[in-house]
Amino acid sequence: MTRIGILTSGGDCPGLNAVIRGAVLKGSEVHGQEFVGFLDGWRGLVEGDAMPLDRSRVRGLSHEGGTILGTSRIGPYQGPNGGAANIARTMERLGVDAVVAIGGEGTAAAAQRLFDEGIRIVGVPKTIDNDLDQTDYTFGFDTAVEIATEAIDRLRTTGNSHKRCMVLEVMGRNAGWIALHSGTAGGAHAILIPEHPESIEQICAWTNSVRERGRAPMVVVAEGFTLPDMAQAHSTKGMDGFDRPRLGGIAELLAPMIQERTGIETRATVLGHIQRGGVPTAFDRVLATRLGMAVTDLVADEQWGHMVALHGTEIVRVGFDEALVDHKSVPAHRYQEMRVIFG
Ligand code: F6P
Repeated sequence: MTRIGILTSGGDCPGLNAVIRGAVLKGSEVHGQEFVGFLDGWRGLVEGDAMPLDRSRVRGLSHEGGTILGTSRIGPYQGPNGGAANIARTMERLGVDAVVAIGGEGTAAAAQRLFDEGIRIVGVPKTIDNDLDQTDYTFGFDTAVEIATEAIDRLRTTGNSHKRCMVLEVMGRNAGWIALHSGTAGGAHAILIPEHPESIEQICAWTNSVRERGRAPMVVVAEGFTLPDMAQAHSTKGMDGFDRPRLGGIAELLAPMIQERTGIETRATVLGHIQRGGVPTAFDRVLATRLGMAVTDLVADEQWGHMVALHGTEIVRVGFDEALVDHKSVPAHRYQEMRVIFG
C-alpha cells in the first residue's frame, strides 16, 4: 500500500481543504492509498511533523477556507534537517512513500529540485494570483475575484453618495489577473495592473472624464502596479520567506496624487487578506476537488516530478519544469480589450 504525505505551502488559498478531501477520498477508495498530512508546509516534511488523514478527518471539508494542515513560507532546504537526503530519511522513518505538494511557484521550484535529487514528489498548483503557467486557472482565484468584486460594489455606493473617487487595491503580486477580472466585473473606470504601467496624467484624465459625466470614479489597482517612474513595485514591508519583497500600499500613494491633480476627493482601500479568507466559491471547490482526485492518479502511475493542471475544462499532467519556464502574466490584448472603455 502506498502511503502519501500531503503538504500545503506558501500563502493559503480558498480550496486547499477541498484538494485534501478529494485526494484522500479518491486515493483511499480507488487506489488503496493511505495518507498523512505534513503540518505547516515544508516544515512538517523537514521535521517529520505529520498528522493522520483518513476519510473521517476530511468529512465536510470542501467548503472550509484555509488549510487544516497549516502552511508557511519555509523552504525544504532550510534548517539542519532540510535538503533531499535528510527528507528521504525522514520519509523512510515515517513510512511515507511519496509527497503531494500543494503550492504556487516557489513550491513548484522547490519540488522540482527535490525531484531532481530523487524524492518521489508530485504537485497541485494553487494561488489566488492565477499567475502559474501551464494551468488555465488556479483554485482560489475565482474566490478572490468574487470578494474583490463585492468590495467594488460596496465602494461604489459610498463613492457615489459623496461624489468621491474610490481607489481599491487588490492582491496578485506581479500579475494583474485579480484586478482585471474584478475590475471588469465591477465596472471600474480604470484598472491598473503591473504588466501595463500607466502615467498619473492618464489616470487623472480617466477620473476627470468620469466626473464630467457626473459619476464617481472607481479605480482598481493591483498591488504590483507601477507608475512609469517607479523602478519597482511599492513595498515597505520587507521580504517574504521566499526572499521576494512584500507588496502593498500603492493605492495609498495614488489616492493623494489623484486628489491633488483633479481636485476630486479621493479615498484608498487596501483589501488585503480578506481576499484569501473564507469559503471557496463553487467553481473553486469543483476545481480543487478534481485536482485533488487527479493527483492520486499521478502517484498511482508514479509520474514523479509532475503536477496536475487545468487545460480548458480537462485536468492534465505537466512537468514542474514546464510550469516553471514562464510566469502567466496578463497579455497585452487582454488589457487593451478593457482599456478602450476606461474613463
Ligand atoms: O501569493 C498570494 C498572495 O496573497 C499575494 O497576492 C500577496 O502579495 C501575498 O500572497 C501576501 O503574502 P502574505 O500572506 O505573506 O502577506
